[in-house]
Amino acid sequence: MKKTLKDIAKLAGVSIATVSMVVNNKDDRISAATRARVLEIIKTSDYVPNRVASSMVTKKTKTIGLIIPDIANPFFPEIARGVEDKANAEGYTVILCNSDNKLSKEDAYIEMLQEKMVEGIIFTASSRRTTVSQALLKVRVPVITVDRDIPDLKQQGKITVDNEHGAYEAVTHMLDSGYRQIYHLSGPLTSRTAQERYNGYKRALVSKGITPSSDYMIEGLFTSDWGHETINGIIKSKKPFDGVFCGNDMIALGVLKGLQENNVSVPMDIGIVGFDDIEMAKMVTPELTTVRQPKYEMGYRAAELLLKMIQGEHTDQNEYILKTEFIQRSSTK
Ligand code: RIB
Repeated sequence: MKKTLKDIAKLAGVSIATVSMVVNNKDDRISAATRARVLEIIKTSDYVPNRVASSMVTKKTKTIGLIIPDIANPFFPEIARGVEDKANAEGYTVILCNSDNKLSKEDAYIEMLQEKMVEGIIFTASSRRTTVSQALLKVRVPVITVDRDIPDLKQQGKITVDNEHGAYEAVTHMLDSGYRQIYHLSGPLTSRTAQERYNGYKRALVSKGITPSSDYMIEGLFTSDWGHETINGIIKSKKPFDGVFCGNDMIALGVLKGLQENNVSVPMDIGIVGFDDIEMAKMVTPELTTVRQPKYEMGYRAAELLLKMIQGEHTDQNEYILKTEFIQRSSTK
Protein backbone atom coordinates (compact mmCIF):
# COMPACT_ATOMS: atom_id res chain seq x y z
CA MET A 1 0.00 0.00 0.00
CA LYS A 2 1.29 3.51 -0.84
CA LYS A 3 2.93 5.26 2.14
CA THR A 4 1.60 8.69 3.15
CA LEU A 5 3.35 11.69 4.65
CA LYS A 6 2.05 10.50 8.03
CA ASP A 7 3.55 7.01 7.58
CA ILE A 8 6.95 8.48 6.67
CA ALA A 9 6.84 10.77 9.70
CA LYS A 10 6.01 7.84 12.02
CA LEU A 11 8.79 5.67 10.59
CA ALA A 12 11.30 8.52 10.88
CA GLY A 13 10.10 9.57 14.33
CA VAL A 14 9.52 13.18 13.22
CA SER A 15 6.49 15.45 12.65
CA ILE A 16 4.51 15.60 9.41
CA ALA A 17 5.63 19.21 8.99
CA THR A 18 9.29 18.07 9.12
CA VAL A 19 8.71 15.50 6.36
CA SER A 20 6.83 18.10 4.29
CA MET A 21 9.68 20.59 4.64
CA VAL A 22 12.20 17.94 3.53
CA VAL A 23 9.97 17.00 0.55
CA ASN A 24 9.60 20.68 -0.44
CA ASN A 25 13.31 21.53 0.06
CA LYS A 26 12.33 23.94 2.83
CA ASP A 27 14.49 22.09 5.32
CA ASP A 28 17.24 24.57 6.07
CA ARG A 29 16.34 24.40 9.79
CA ILE A 30 16.42 20.57 9.94
CA SER A 31 19.60 18.70 10.96
CA ALA A 32 21.46 16.87 8.21
CA ALA A 33 20.98 13.58 10.08
CA THR A 34 17.20 13.99 10.28
CA ARG A 35 17.02 15.04 6.64
CA ALA A 36 19.09 12.01 5.60
CA ARG A 37 16.91 9.65 7.69
CA VAL A 38 13.68 11.03 6.17
CA LEU A 39 15.04 10.85 2.62
CA GLU A 40 16.28 7.27 3.18
CA ILE A 41 12.83 6.16 4.37
CA ILE A 42 11.16 7.95 1.43
CA LYS A 43 13.58 6.25 -0.96
CA THR A 44 12.94 2.79 0.42
CA SER A 45 9.16 3.16 0.71
CA ASP A 46 6.43 3.47 -1.91
CA TYR A 47 5.81 7.16 -1.18
CA VAL A 48 4.54 9.68 -3.78
CA PRO A 49 4.43 13.27 -2.43
CA ASN A 50 0.85 14.55 -2.36
CA ARG A 51 1.36 18.06 -3.62
CA VAL A 52 -1.99 19.27 -2.35
CA ALA A 53 -1.43 17.83 1.16
CA SER A 54 2.08 19.26 1.42
CA SER A 55 0.89 22.62 0.12
CA MET A 56 -1.53 22.74 3.07
CA VAL A 57 1.52 22.71 5.31
CA THR A 58 3.84 24.98 3.34
CA LYS A 59 1.15 27.04 1.58
CA LYS A 60 3.33 26.67 -1.52
CA THR A 61 1.73 24.84 -4.45
CA LYS A 62 4.58 25.74 -6.86
CA THR A 63 1.83 26.53 -9.36
CA ILE A 64 1.03 29.72 -11.29
CA GLY A 65 -2.01 30.62 -13.39
CA LEU A 66 -1.98 31.98 -16.96
CA ILE A 67 -5.12 33.58 -18.43
CA ILE A 68 -5.14 34.30 -22.19
CA PRO A 69 -8.08 35.76 -24.14
CA ASP A 70 -8.09 33.68 -27.35
CA ILE A 71 -6.30 30.32 -27.52
CA ALA A 72 -7.30 30.02 -31.22
CA ASN A 73 -5.09 33.00 -32.10
CA PRO A 74 -1.50 31.69 -32.66
CA PHE A 75 -0.13 34.80 -30.96
CA PHE A 76 -1.09 33.60 -27.48
CA PRO A 77 0.24 30.01 -27.47
CA GLU A 78 3.70 31.45 -28.20
CA ILE A 79 3.39 33.61 -25.10
CA ALA A 80 2.24 30.53 -23.17
CA ARG A 81 5.35 28.61 -24.28
CA GLY A 82 7.61 31.29 -22.86
CA VAL A 83 5.69 31.27 -19.57
CA GLU A 84 5.76 27.49 -19.34
CA ASP A 85 9.46 27.13 -20.13
CA LYS A 86 10.50 29.61 -17.45
CA ALA A 87 8.03 28.27 -14.87
CA ASN A 88 9.15 24.70 -15.53
CA ALA A 89 12.81 25.64 -15.20
CA GLU A 90 12.02 26.96 -11.72
CA GLY A 91 10.02 23.87 -10.71
CA TYR A 92 6.58 25.46 -11.14
CA THR A 93 3.61 24.15 -13.09
CA VAL A 94 1.18 26.35 -15.05
CA ILE A 95 -2.62 26.22 -15.12
CA LEU A 96 -3.67 27.62 -18.53
CA CYS A 97 -7.08 29.34 -18.79
CA ASN A 98 -8.71 30.63 -22.01
CA SER A 99 -11.17 33.45 -21.31
CA ASP A 100 -12.57 33.74 -24.88
CA ASN A 101 -12.34 37.50 -24.42
CA LYS A 102 -15.25 37.23 -21.95
CA LEU A 103 -15.02 39.45 -18.86
CA SER A 104 -17.18 37.12 -16.75
CA LYS A 105 -14.95 34.17 -17.62
CA GLU A 106 -11.83 36.18 -16.76
CA ASP A 107 -13.22 37.06 -13.35
CA ALA A 108 -14.28 33.47 -12.71
CA TYR A 109 -10.77 32.26 -13.56
CA ILE A 110 -9.15 34.88 -11.31
CA GLU A 111 -11.19 33.48 -8.41
CA MET A 112 -10.79 29.79 -9.36
CA LEU A 113 -7.02 30.08 -9.65
CA GLN A 114 -6.79 31.52 -6.14
CA GLU A 115 -9.03 28.73 -4.80
CA LYS A 116 -6.48 26.33 -6.31
CA MET A 117 -3.84 28.26 -4.35
CA VAL A 118 -1.74 29.40 -7.32
CA GLU A 119 1.11 31.55 -6.07
CA GLY A 120 0.71 34.16 -8.82
CA ILE A 121 -1.18 34.96 -12.05
CA ILE A 122 -0.04 36.07 -15.52
CA PHE A 123 -2.89 37.69 -17.38
CA THR A 124 -3.61 39.05 -20.88
CA ALA A 125 -6.79 41.06 -20.59
CA SER A 126 -9.78 40.63 -22.85
CA SER A 127 -9.88 43.30 -25.56
CA ARG A 128 -13.08 44.43 -23.87
CA ARG A 129 -11.53 44.90 -20.42
CA THR A 130 -11.47 48.61 -19.55
CA THR A 131 -12.11 48.57 -15.80
CA VAL A 132 -10.78 46.75 -12.76
CA SER A 133 -13.43 44.25 -11.65
CA GLN A 134 -14.19 43.25 -8.07
CA ALA A 135 -12.37 39.96 -8.67
CA LEU A 136 -9.25 41.85 -9.73
CA LEU A 137 -9.57 44.34 -6.86
CA LYS A 138 -9.64 41.48 -4.36
CA VAL A 139 -6.85 39.42 -5.91
CA ARG A 140 -4.48 38.26 -3.16
CA VAL A 141 -1.51 37.00 -5.19
CA PRO A 142 1.00 38.82 -7.43
CA VAL A 143 -0.40 39.62 -10.91
CA ILE A 144 1.64 40.31 -14.05
CA THR A 145 -0.14 41.56 -17.16
CA VAL A 146 1.46 40.61 -20.47
CA ASP A 147 0.67 42.25 -23.84
CA ARG A 148 -2.62 43.96 -22.94
CA ASP A 149 -2.68 45.57 -19.52
CA ILE A 150 -5.59 46.87 -17.51
CA PRO A 151 -5.65 50.61 -16.90
CA ASP A 152 -6.00 51.37 -13.16
CA LEU A 153 -5.13 47.82 -12.11
CA LYS A 154 -2.58 48.25 -9.35
CA GLN A 155 -0.97 45.12 -10.72
CA GLN A 156 2.51 44.39 -9.57
CA GLY A 157 4.07 43.95 -13.02
CA LYS A 158 3.68 44.60 -16.73
CA ILE A 159 5.30 43.22 -19.90
CA THR A 160 4.25 44.98 -23.10
CA VAL A 161 5.76 46.11 -26.41
CA ASP A 162 6.01 49.56 -27.97
CA ASN A 163 2.91 49.13 -30.15
CA GLU A 164 2.80 52.82 -31.15
CA HIS A 165 6.31 52.81 -32.54
CA GLY A 166 5.82 49.46 -34.23
CA ALA A 167 2.78 50.79 -36.08
CA TYR A 168 4.49 54.10 -36.88
CA GLU A 169 7.45 52.23 -38.44
CA ALA A 170 5.18 49.95 -40.51
CA VAL A 171 3.00 52.73 -41.93
CA THR A 172 6.06 54.92 -42.61
CA HIS A 173 7.44 52.02 -44.66
CA MET A 174 4.17 51.85 -46.63
CA LEU A 175 4.25 55.60 -47.29
CA ASP A 176 7.91 55.48 -48.32
CA SER A 177 7.01 52.64 -50.74
CA GLY A 178 4.50 54.94 -52.45
CA TYR A 179 1.21 53.83 -50.85
CA ARG A 180 -0.95 56.86 -50.11
CA GLN A 181 -4.55 55.88 -49.39
CA ILE A 182 -4.02 53.43 -46.53
CA TYR A 183 -6.84 51.90 -44.50
CA HIS A 184 -6.28 50.93 -40.90
CA LEU A 185 -8.35 47.89 -39.87
CA SER A 186 -7.92 47.80 -36.10
CA GLY A 187 -8.81 45.49 -33.25
CA PRO A 188 -11.22 46.72 -30.55
CA LEU A 189 -10.02 50.18 -29.45
CA THR A 190 -10.96 49.25 -25.89
CA SER A 191 -7.72 47.26 -25.88
CA ARG A 192 -4.58 49.25 -25.29
CA THR A 193 -2.67 47.42 -28.02
CA ALA A 194 -5.23 48.40 -30.68
CA GLN A 195 -5.37 51.98 -29.42
CA GLU A 196 -1.59 52.38 -29.51
CA ARG A 197 -1.33 50.96 -33.05
CA TYR A 198 -4.02 53.39 -34.19
CA ASN A 199 -1.98 56.23 -32.71
CA GLY A 200 1.15 55.05 -34.52
CA TYR A 201 -0.78 54.83 -37.81
CA LYS A 202 -2.00 58.42 -37.41
CA ARG A 203 1.44 59.74 -36.41
CA ALA A 204 3.03 58.21 -39.50
CA LEU A 205 0.46 59.84 -41.80
CA VAL A 206 0.88 63.23 -40.13
CA SER A 207 4.69 62.96 -40.31
CA LYS A 208 4.33 62.71 -44.11
CA GLY A 209 1.91 65.63 -44.36
CA ILE A 210 -1.22 63.47 -44.75
CA THR A 211 -4.26 64.32 -42.61
CA PRO A 212 -5.69 61.10 -41.13
CA SER A 213 -9.29 60.58 -42.24
CA SER A 214 -11.83 58.59 -40.25
CA ASP A 215 -13.06 57.32 -43.63
CA TYR A 216 -9.95 55.14 -43.78
CA MET A 217 -10.13 53.89 -40.16
CA ILE A 218 -12.34 50.89 -39.35
CA GLU A 219 -12.48 49.42 -35.84
CA GLY A 220 -13.30 45.72 -35.55
CA LEU A 221 -12.00 42.42 -34.17
CA PHE A 222 -8.61 40.71 -34.10
CA THR A 223 -9.92 37.89 -36.32
CA SER A 224 -9.44 36.73 -39.92
CA ASP A 225 -13.22 36.45 -40.47
CA TRP A 226 -13.67 40.10 -39.59
CA GLY A 227 -10.74 41.10 -41.85
CA HIS A 228 -12.20 39.07 -44.70
CA GLU A 229 -15.73 40.50 -44.47
CA THR A 230 -14.41 44.07 -43.99
CA ILE A 231 -12.17 44.06 -47.07
CA ASN A 232 -15.07 42.71 -49.13
CA GLY A 233 -17.16 45.66 -47.93
CA ILE A 234 -14.36 48.09 -48.81
CA ILE A 235 -14.05 46.63 -52.32
CA LYS A 236 -17.82 46.88 -52.82
CA SER A 237 -17.77 50.53 -51.69
CA LYS A 238 -15.41 51.32 -54.60
CA LYS A 239 -13.66 53.90 -52.39
CA PRO A 240 -10.10 54.29 -53.80
CA PHE A 241 -7.32 52.80 -51.67
CA ASP A 242 -3.88 51.29 -52.23
CA GLY A 243 -2.87 49.92 -48.81
CA VAL A 244 -4.19 48.25 -45.65
CA PHE A 245 -2.41 48.41 -42.28
CA CYS A 246 -4.00 45.66 -40.14
CA GLY A 247 -4.21 45.58 -36.34
CA ASN A 248 -2.83 42.03 -36.29
CA ASP A 249 -1.84 39.18 -38.62
CA MET A 250 -5.19 37.41 -38.31
CA ILE A 251 -6.97 40.46 -39.76
CA ALA A 252 -4.29 40.67 -42.49
CA LEU A 253 -4.81 37.02 -43.48
CA GLY A 254 -8.53 37.68 -43.91
CA VAL A 255 -7.80 40.81 -45.96
CA LEU A 256 -5.35 38.91 -48.19
CA LYS A 257 -7.94 36.19 -48.84
CA GLY A 258 -10.60 38.77 -49.76
CA LEU A 259 -8.32 40.67 -52.13
CA GLN A 260 -7.18 37.49 -53.88
CA GLU A 261 -10.80 36.32 -54.25
CA ASN A 262 -11.44 39.63 -56.06
CA ASN A 263 -8.38 39.17 -58.30
CA VAL A 264 -6.61 42.17 -56.74
CA SER A 265 -2.82 42.02 -57.07
CA VAL A 266 -0.88 42.12 -53.78
CA PRO A 267 1.45 44.06 -53.46
CA MET A 268 1.32 45.77 -56.89
CA ASP A 269 -2.27 47.10 -56.58
CA ILE A 270 -2.70 46.90 -52.80
CA GLY A 271 -0.07 46.60 -50.08
CA ILE A 272 -0.86 44.77 -46.81
CA VAL A 273 0.93 44.93 -43.46
CA GLY A 274 0.01 42.88 -40.38
CA PHE A 275 1.16 42.88 -36.72
CA ASP A 276 2.47 40.00 -34.49
CA ASP A 277 4.47 37.86 -37.00
CA ILE A 278 2.71 34.59 -36.18
CA GLU A 279 3.98 31.40 -37.89
CA MET A 280 1.32 31.62 -40.63
CA ALA A 281 2.56 35.07 -41.77
CA LYS A 282 5.34 33.47 -43.81
CA MET A 283 3.28 30.49 -44.94
CA VAL A 284 0.89 32.44 -47.21
CA THR A 285 1.60 33.77 -50.73
CA PRO A 286 2.66 36.53 -50.90
CA GLU A 287 4.34 36.23 -47.53
CA LEU A 288 3.03 38.85 -45.11
CA THR A 289 4.97 42.00 -44.30
CA THR A 290 4.37 42.52 -40.60
CA VAL A 291 5.57 43.82 -37.23
CA ARG A 292 7.21 41.11 -35.14
CA GLN A 293 6.35 40.98 -31.44
CA PRO A 294 8.85 39.07 -29.23
CA LYS A 295 6.06 36.71 -28.14
CA TYR A 296 8.13 33.97 -26.49
CA GLU A 297 10.29 36.53 -24.68
CA MET A 298 7.16 38.37 -23.47
CA GLY A 299 5.89 35.18 -21.84
CA TYR A 300 9.31 34.18 -20.49
CA ARG A 301 9.93 37.62 -18.97
CA ALA A 302 6.43 37.70 -17.45
CA ALA A 303 7.09 34.37 -15.71
CA GLU A 304 10.57 35.53 -14.63
CA LEU A 305 9.14 38.69 -13.04
CA LEU A 306 6.28 36.84 -11.37
CA LEU A 307 8.55 34.17 -9.89
CA LYS A 308 10.88 36.83 -8.49
CA MET A 309 7.90 38.39 -6.72
CA ILE A 310 6.67 35.04 -5.46
CA GLN A 311 10.12 34.19 -4.13
CA GLY A 312 10.38 37.58 -2.45
CA GLU A 313 13.34 38.70 -4.55
CA HIS A 314 13.93 42.42 -5.02
CA THR A 315 12.89 43.64 -8.47
CA ASP A 316 14.33 47.01 -9.42
CA GLN A 317 11.80 47.34 -12.24
CA ASN A 318 8.29 45.96 -12.67
CA GLU A 319 7.32 47.33 -16.06
CA TYR A 320 9.13 46.30 -19.26
CA ILE A 321 8.29 47.67 -22.72
CA LEU A 322 9.95 45.41 -25.31
CA LYS A 323 10.80 46.44 -28.84
CA THR A 324 9.03 45.27 -32.00
CA GLU A 325 10.80 44.60 -35.30
CA PHE A 326 9.53 45.54 -38.77
CA ILE A 327 9.62 42.43 -41.02
CA GLN A 328 9.56 43.27 -44.73
CA ARG A 329 8.17 40.44 -46.85
CA SER A 330 6.32 40.40 -50.16
CA SER A 331 2.85 41.74 -49.33
CA THR A 332 4.27 45.26 -49.76
CA LYS A 333 6.42 46.74 -52.57
O1 RIB B 1 -3.44 38.91 -32.28
C1 RIB B 1 -3.98 39.30 -31.04
C2 RIB B 1 -3.59 40.70 -30.78
O2 RIB B 1 -4.07 41.06 -29.53
C3 RIB B 1 -2.08 40.81 -30.76
O3 RIB B 1 -1.65 41.81 -31.64
C4 RIB B 1 -1.74 41.09 -29.33
O4 RIB B 1 -0.89 42.22 -29.20
C5 RIB B 1 -3.05 41.27 -28.62
O5 RIB B 1 -3.18 42.54 -28.10
